[in-house]
Amino acid sequence: MQTLKFKNNDLMPALGLGTWKSEPGEVYSSVKTAIKEGYRHIDCAPIYGNEKEIGQALAECISEGIVSRADMWITSKLWNTSHAKSDVIPALQQTLNDLQTEYLDLFLIHWPISLKKGVFFPQSANDLISLEEIPISETWSEMEKAVELGLIKHIGVSNFGKKNLESLISTATIIPEMNQVESHPYLQQEKLFSFCKSNNIHFTAYSPLGSTDRPEVLKAENEPRVLDDVLIGEISKSKHVTPAQVLLKWALNRGTSVIPKSTNPGRIAQNLKAEKLKLSNEDMEKIAELEKGYRYVSGQFWVFDDGPYTLEDVWA
Ligand code: A2P
Repeated sequence: MQTLKFKNNDLMPALGLGTWKSEPGEVYSSVKTAIKEGYRHIDCAPIYGNEKEIGQALAECISEGIVSRADMWITSKLWNTSHAKSDVIPALQQTLNDLQTEYLDLFLIHWPISLKKGVFFPQSANDLISLEEIPISETWSEMEKAVELGLIKHIGVSNFGKKNLESLISTATIIPEMNQVESHPYLQQEKLFSFCKSNNIHFTAYSPLGSTDRPEVLKAENEPRVLDDVLIGEISKSKHVTPAQVLLKWALNRGTSVIPKSTNPGRIAQNLKAEKLKLSNEDMEKIAELEKGYRYVSGQFWVFDDGPYTLEDVWA
């Protein structure tokens, strides 16, 4: 199993199961199937609304002796309504309870965005809190405290561009060890990836298959479908594998972690087998030419004319 090595030598399995959009009612069996198939990394977040069921599946796999907790890598994230100093550890504790675990392997600040309590997604500028009011450095020092308390092993961020990372690094005691961002051949994030590498920050690619099951409100008209890309199709045919497997192996070959979501048993198994596929340097170079700078998750939902955030603030 391909892994990413952390500073203390902990190994994170590079290919994990994504659970964004995995509905309660189906995520329980997906997580059990995935663990039985050999997945040892599950990516979670409270905003996905399914951590309780994931926790149940995990607890059962452990009590049935299929895996031990130490064999698993569990990531979760801090939602935007819990950035205030007094909210970080209680939010983490809720996640630990829901996931039925005493610690997380990795805990990430989900977005460099702060929301008022009780807000699910903002409907107006009034639902947002600026980073001047609750600076990321304040949130981060609570994340650091949770490491000291033994509640989490590693801390990082998600959806952070270079500017937000630089600002965080300038005040952090523990340098973030992960940045989880959207990445696939249409949004390779090469510059951000290089910046992360040069600062010893690992990189996880979310939406590696283009997240076609996103809610319609999050979709643009006529968006390009990376799973249907002609070149990806040609490479997959020539190797008798699926386009999804080519996309996942491309991500693994770059040295990133990758977290495809599936609730379908056949596709869960198929995605893990991508590790075995071989892509040549020529395949990798051709795929690199597919870059379009296309975001499936645009971040536009944080932006209001009179609000505290611009897209530039989010992605810069
Ligand atoms: P399903 O859950 O029914 O398998 P992403 O990981 O980029 O968010 O993409 C998730 C979407 O890709 C879901 O619609 C998921 O559907 C689908 N998917 C997952 N694995 C595969 C695969 N191997 N081939 C085709 N589609 C897949």
